[in-house]
Amino acid sequence: MNDILLKALAGKNFSGRPPLWLMRQAGRYLPSYNALRRRHSFLTLCHTPELIAEVALLPFSHFPFDAAILFSDILVVAEALGLGLRMEESIGPIIERPLTTREEIFNLPTPEAWDSFSYVAEGISLLLPQLKVPLLGFAGAPFTVASYLIEGRSSAQLEKTKRWMICDPESFHCLLNKIAILTIDYLKLQIKAGVQAIQLFDSWAHQLAPVQFQEFSLAYMKMIMQGIESLNIPIILFCRGSALFAKKIAELSPAAISIDWSGHLPSIRSEVAHSIALQGNLDPFVLYGAKGTIDKEVKNLLNGMKQDPAYIFNLGHGIQPDTPLEAVHRLVELVHGQQ
Ligand code: CP3
Repeated sequence: MNDILLKALAGKNFSGRPPLWLMRQAGRYLPSYNALRRRHSFLTLCHTPELIAEVALLPFSHFPFDAAILFSDILVVAEALGLGLRMEESIGPIIERPLTTREEIFNLPTPEAWDSFSYVAEGISLLLPQLKVPLLGFAGAPFTVASYLIEGRSSAQLEKTKRWMICDPESFHCLLNKIAILTIDYLKLQIKAGVQAIQLFDSWAHQLAPVQFQEFSLAYMKMIMQGIESLNIPIILFCRGSALFAKKIAELSPAAISIDWSGHLPSIRSEVAHSIALQGNLDPFVLYGAKGTIDKEVKNLLNGMKQDPAYIFNLGHGIQPDTPLEAVHRLVELVHGQQ
């Protein structure tokens, strides 16, 4: 078992190189993923335990990553809440019945995770015996999930969400609270099924001003952390905006903060205690670059975080769907110290 990811999360990775995994490592940059997608819809992949295991393993036939991540999506909670989810080719996820009134929030069902997500637990049990690295579970943070439930799809400015948050904070808090309660239950399911660490994704947190971030994002990440505290598992918090908000996020004492590509990691390290691991943050677009560019940027990051026993190499956001495989190969070589 290669456990350098867990060692780094504990601040004790003395193996001589940081662990490496990539957000969206099981996705469209892999020809084998695209081949499976020609046979199955995205949601079929997410809902079928055998396929969850198969897709999560795909990257390992190419790359010796130091962690696997559960194959699923942060928006499966929309299905559990009865709002419907589909994936549209050039748009991305669509919520079929987005929220439009406060009554719809107050009337949302309170599903049990074991009723809604038993297929995820089954997928995890099929996956675990085939892995030689730790398995990460994950969920969306309440603010990001709420923004999809209101906007109905990805939206550049979150106009409807922010307007709702400002004009009717009471029902907005009620929504965040309901998502947090379901998410706690869902993460407990993943942990009981065997994931060894959790990452929470607050991908739209960068749309919030600092005070709003505290009230509408951070407070609910804290609620989730407290909700699963007794299960004693490392939690990685990823937000876009984490470069700006790192000090605030550090106050929650997560095992790790995953920094988006906009931050300078060594400077952030000087503000965040070594008891908290840092993960990140190569700009995913660097992997489109020539070999010389990739070498320069990756070495720069590796040198900046050299000898940091609590550093995890990752991208600053998900890998782009058309990233060349050779670029990922080069990244792996560099992180493994084969210059
Ligand atoms: O490999 C992995 O990282 C594990 C699986 C995973 C997926 N989505 C699979 C996926 C994870 C961890 C996610 C998280 C996720 N999903 C986030 C948070 C991280 C982030 O990127 O900010 C968000 C916001 C979503 C919602 C979502 N799902 C969007 C916006 C899209 C479409 C655009 C995009 O970025 O790909 C998806 C689709 C999706 N989720 C795909 C995959 C492999 C591609 C779907 C396809 O095959 O058509």
